Amino acid sequence: MTTGTRRALARAATFVAGSVILLTACSSPSGTGEDVGPVMLPVTPIAVPAAIDPAVLGWESAGAALEVSPALAESVGDCGVELVAAARQVLGVRCAAEAGPVVLYSDTASGQVWSTSELFTEEGRREVMDGLVFEGATPASEDRTNYLGLLDDVRFDSAGNVVVVTADGAAWQVGSADVAPLLSDSGRLVRGTVRSAGAFSGPLAAAPAGVPVVAAASAQLPPPVSKRTGSGGTVDCTVEKCIAITYDDGPGPYTEKLLDILAARDAKATFYMLGSLVAGRADTVKRMVEEGHDVANHTWSHPDLRTIAADAVARQVSRTTDAVEAASGVAPSTMRPPYGATNATVVDVLARQGLPIIMWSVDTEDWKNRSVSETTSRALSGAHEGAIILFHDIHPSTVDAAPGIIDALQSQGYTLVTISNLLGEMEPGVKYFSTTNP
Ligand code: NI
Repeated sequence: MTTGTRRALARAATFVAGSVILLTACSSPSGTGEDVGPVMLPVTPIAVPAAIDPAVLGWESAGAALEVSPALAESVGDCGVELVAAARQVLGVRCAAEAGPVVLYSDTASGQVWSTSELFTEEGRREVMDGLVFEGATPASEDRTNYLGLLDDVRFDSAGNVVVVTADGAAWQVGSADVAPLLSDSGRLVRGTVRSAGAFSGPLAAAPAGVPVVAAASAQLPPPVSKRTGSGGTVDCTVEKCIAITYDDGPGPYTEKLLDILAARDAKATFYMLGSLVAGRADTVKRMVEEGHDVANHTWSHPDLRTIAADAVARQVSRTTDAVEAASGVAPSTMRPPYGATNATVVDVLARQGLPIIMWSVDTEDWKNRSVSETTSRALSGAHEGAIILFHDIHPSTVDAAPGIIDALQSQGYTLVTISNLLGEMEPGVKYFSTTNP
């Protein structure tokens, strides 16, 4: 069944009582028997999120947002303005225009302005609108072909969920993992920035440093359906002697075996994964989260990020974040650039996506030596409190070395923790080599 057919079916079913059963599953007419699963995007009614109090930013009124972003002022024209997002360089304002309210987002650093419909891909837009109409959301107009006005007021919460407020004042939530594949590049940027919960840093900003201004909006929302980090772990590394083992370039054929080894020793690890490999081993990625490991971002296809354009860097990273989140329900909270290679552009893109840059202090060179004894000796001779040890779980020798290395570290009094546990609060765009060397 083609996507177009599915959509047509979904639309028809919206208006034909009793046809809901058509939507639960179907097979490909080509005879492949491909099960497309549930067709409709899950959309849940929720309370309308409150606007952000401009006083949180040190502003007298939300109208100050228009001074901060002249491009935004030009786009909204003359209307009553409310703040719906203010995180890092991104501002979102709701404009109560006569034709109906609209929300616009601005990257105050680049001066770009986006309407909410631009935050979705064309297909994503249709899927969200179909889901909304199916659940009974009311379009602003009677034009049921285009569902005009349905996506004029779209907001994001700190968990990465999308909240659509319709013209009749109802609000609907699309879950973080569901909405991720439906967003355009600008949608990913806005969502990622709001989710990073960083203080607004735009021009003329008078916000006191460190105030998480999205908190005001997200406080009104139901509990998040997914968390930003893995379990993170609760080991107090100011008391315990902590160390972090990290595995790059997977998930691969030996990763499950490694998870068994870790589970048997109650050791936690962090996996810097390639987005292109994640969908093929989604169960393994989900298991990582279930067993308390950190799932982390190592780009989509392992390019040297210094050699590609900024928008390609952004895409390498955001696609991977989405793939990991779709597989595990958890978005990566840290990233490691391939080869550890960065430049100012790469760092800037990573900062905008809210990601700290995790390097290492112990290099086992396991990819080169492919030797259990050499990998083990390099890991153990380099180990120190607060260290980050670099491995690659795509090599069988690395996985075979893991039991001996973990046993030895634990017998030396180390607790093996995730990166988020080891480093705690991290700054996006900052490089961390160990606990003592950010
Ligand atoms: Ni790598």
